[in-house]
Amino acid sequence: MDKRKVIIDCDPGIDDTLALMLALRSPELDILGISIVCGNVPTKKGAENALKVLKWMNRLDIPVYLGEETPLVRPYVDAMDTHGEDGLGESWYDCITSVRPKENAVQFLADTLNEVKNNNDNISIIALGPLTNIAKLIQLHPECLDGVDEIVSMGGAYKSHGNCSPVAEYNYWCDPDAAKIVFENMFVHMVGLDVTREIVLTPSILEYMCNVNSKIGEIIKKITRFYFDFHWKQEGVIGCVINDPLAVAYFIDRTLCDGFSTYTQIETQGISLGQSVIDAYDFYKKEKNSYVLTTTDAFAFMQFFFERVVEVKKEESAPVLKQIMVQK
Ligand code: RIB
Ligand code: CA
Repeated sequence: MDKRKVIIDCDPGIDDTLALMLALRSPELDILGISIVCGNVPTKKGAENALKVLKWMNRLDIPVYLGEETPLVRPYVDAMDTHGEDGLGESWYDCITSVRPKENAVQFLADTLNEVKNNNDNISIIALGPLTNIAKLIQLHPECLDGVDEIVSMGGAYKSHGNCSPVAEYNYWCDPDAAKIVFENMFVHMVGLDVTREIVLTPSILEYMCNVNSKIGEIIKKITRFYFDFHWKQEGVIGCVINDPLAVAYFIDRTLCDGFSTYTQIETQGISLGQSVIDAYDFYKKEKNSYVLTTTDAFAFMQFFFERVVEVKKEESAPVLKQIMVQK
């Protein structure tokens, strides 16, 4: 199988961590690097967390780069109320000392994209946080975009309500100016709250994980406890919505989700700041710049995640997941 070259831009973050685990256990991906952006936690803290994940998955060979520490225009607002002070549910795992993050993620992105382009190859970006690094890349190195095959971004919302305002999802709310620039310059596969809210890690699923793979299960259990408490208080959900892993899964297997091509613009001002305005009825007659996901198969996603991260074959996980997942 031809591996697809990718750079993962993220803000780990609990669900970013699960997404990185999935990506690192997916043979279809050749992960050239991980770039960190200010989001759930400040950039330096996110980089420490990315290194922890690489250590757990025995992939400290993959470089981690420090990206932008503030949004393009708006003051930086973190999400530590959701992800904990350490960004991993206050699990307080030790920092990795044997490898350190490198500087200047945007330069790394530009150099890598240009090198791949010059080799007549291509590379994709899986963006799991605010789009500040990607917007900076566009502003400073527009020539390198020819080397980008696809960008998949976890962010936005179509018909689902926001999680930072009635209409805005965190990644695009945290840096709406960056999101606006990215949607104005690239064709974005938007993995929004309409589909990610279907992906809920419940106590029963967590219990199953720990029963069949205690090493991975116990780590996931430890970093998601805080997230469970937040979800009950904030969204009345027992368990936690794990947004980012779906973006990785969709990048690998498009059958997991469905959607439509359309024109999307990100609002940067006022009460609806951060909203992804999706012109599903073509009022603006603009060129389509996005593929917006509207449905997903949560059961198939969970089997996909279990097969790769928990190491349980689909035929084995099917009967148990059927028993413990709410079937729509
Ligand atoms: O709104 C959810 C998104 O914001 C996820 O990517 C989460 O990790 C945060 O970055
Ligand atoms: Ca994220």
